[in-house]
Amino acid sequence: MTIDPAKSIPAFYAGQSIFLTGATGFLGKVFIEKVLRSCPDVREIFLLMRPKKGLDVNQRLEKILNLPLFDKLREELPSSFKKLIPISGNVNEKVLGLADKDKQMLIDRVTIIIHTAASVKFNDSLKYAILNNTRSTRDICILAQNIKNIVALVYVSTAFTNVNEPFVEEKVYSPVVNWKKMIDMAESLDEHNLNVFTAKFLDYAPNTYIFSKNLAESVIHEYSSSLPCAIVRPSIVVSSIKEPFPGWIDNYYGPISLCAGIAKGAIQIVYIDKSCYNNIVPVDIVIKAMLVACWKLGLTTFTKDSNLFVLNCVNEKRTTHQYGRNIYRSLNDEIPAEGTIWNTKGRYTNNFILFYILTMLLHVSPAILIDRILICFGRRPIAIRLVRLLYVVNCVIYYFSSNNWEYSNLNKSFLTSLILPEEQEMFSFDYSAYDSKEYYKNMMIGGKKFLLREDLNQLNAARVRQRRVNLFSTVVENIIFLGVLWILYKWIFL
Ligand SMILES: NC(=O)c1ccc[n+]([C@@H]2O[C@H](COP(=O)([O-])OP(=O)(O)OC[C@H]3O[C@@H](n4cnc5c(N)ncnc54)[C@H](OP(=O)(O)O)[C@@H]3O)[C@@H](O)[C@H]2O)c1
Repeated sequence: MTIDPAKSIPAFYAGQSIFLTGATGFLGKVFIEKVLRSCPDVREIFLLMRPKKGLDVNQRLEKILNLPLFDKLREELPSSFKKLIPISGNVNEKVLGLADKDKQMLIDRVTIIIHTAASVKFNDSLKYAILNNTRSTRDICILAQNIKNIVALVYVSTAFTNVNEPFVEEKVYSPVVNWKKMIDMAESLDEHNLNVFTAKFLDYAPNTYIFSKNLAESVIHEYSSSLPCAIVRPSIVVSSIKEPFPGWIDNYYGPISLCAGIAKGAIQIVYIDKSCYNNIVPVDIVIKAMLVACWKLGLTTFTKDSNLFVLNCVNEKRTTHQYGRNIYRSLNDEIPAEGTIWNTKGRYTNNFILFYILTMLLHVSPAILIDRILICFGRRPIAIRLVRLLYVVNCVIYYFSSNNWEYSNLNKSFLTSLILPEEQEMFSFDYSAYDSKEYYKNMMIGGKKFLLREDLNQLNAARVRQRRVNLFSTVVENIIFLGVLWILYKWIFL
């Protein structure tokens, strides 16, 4: 019996040839795993990759497939790996850096494009961000126009492309500049000259990443008159909630590095507004949203008047940073990180002066001391470099951790209502009924296992160490605090 692709998502993906960019990234890898496992009749997935750190694209793919993320698939459906075809390219180059024969193969065979490749660094030069994130999106659209049987093009944007809108609707807003002219400028001006303009452009966006992603949405908007396109806008993507198992993460993205620093006791003070929403969304939820949006797009007959489909993909429970920290604190004694170096409470402030003073006292001063000791033992000093890096990361993400945005979720409700009841479990990206405490717990366990590469059998030893370190650091901090009070008292009154 043939299943109607209009009703069944795996039936829709059967026989499709997908071209995925950003295949080696956090989202890309989870996408590959999910498609191969839940849509086993997909024909093939072409993976755009660039050679990196001495590894060619085949070696990179081999390395990826050995990750724990693929354990389940390796056990249940190892032959599906043969459907993965790495293609060498670089989205920073014109025409995505594709060789002619690869380009022709894509034109002949691809039916679906998923464009996730981007540089997610907030401090890239304007030139790099525009070429990597905006021009690449244009080149993806040009490629799609040449593809004979294109069914859908899904572009992964970010929920923060429209930071000046307090309520973000599921539509593309007017751009602040013309993306074509911006690409021309990025191509023709050198880094130095273009940097002169950066300050002006950053009146409209908090950093070059957001600016380039905002323009990329306009690119998609323009090409959507001739191509079936959709935009998916995730907020901050973190550990999986369920698939292929709870807690998967391998991404040291800005906020994640701060959490790891707190868990290790390396970060004592965080610049954040704890009353703001944390805007996190699990990676498997984002991937399901992409797959369902693509299915919906593929089913809709494309006409010139078709509307561009935009899907906001954000946390709907709207929990605050304070709420997240309370759960973390309640679980931290049970699931501590190994080798903690100071207390792991993580203090929050949204007062920059206080943050600066406490950074000097609690981060910079101990770092200077540690580096001195390292130098005495003939080792390379690293503490100050690390402290500086974390300080920059914290300042850069403060914008997102100290503002709130509201998001329309009409398309989410619409899409999830289209999924067959028997496929809801596999594809629904509504997770409003999830248990936050359970999720945070899995997030912490996953963070320990996959990010910090720690052994869960050593939990008891980690607990003992954390208890001792916390006691010791509390005593030392209190002694220093009392000492400062005593000095002040003597200075003022005696
Ligand atoms: N993670 C989040 O919290 C988040 C939130 C909202 C939106 N997004 C969006 O989701 C998408 C994926 O993000 P992610 O978290 O998976 O990021 P990621 O882990 O940093 O992965 C980025 C991917 O893009 C590839 N890439 C970057 N520049 C490239 C180039 N010049 N040529 C070829 N490939 C290139 C990277 O390849 P290499 O491995 O070779 O570097 C990697 O595969 C991005 O478009 C991002 O804007 C992410």
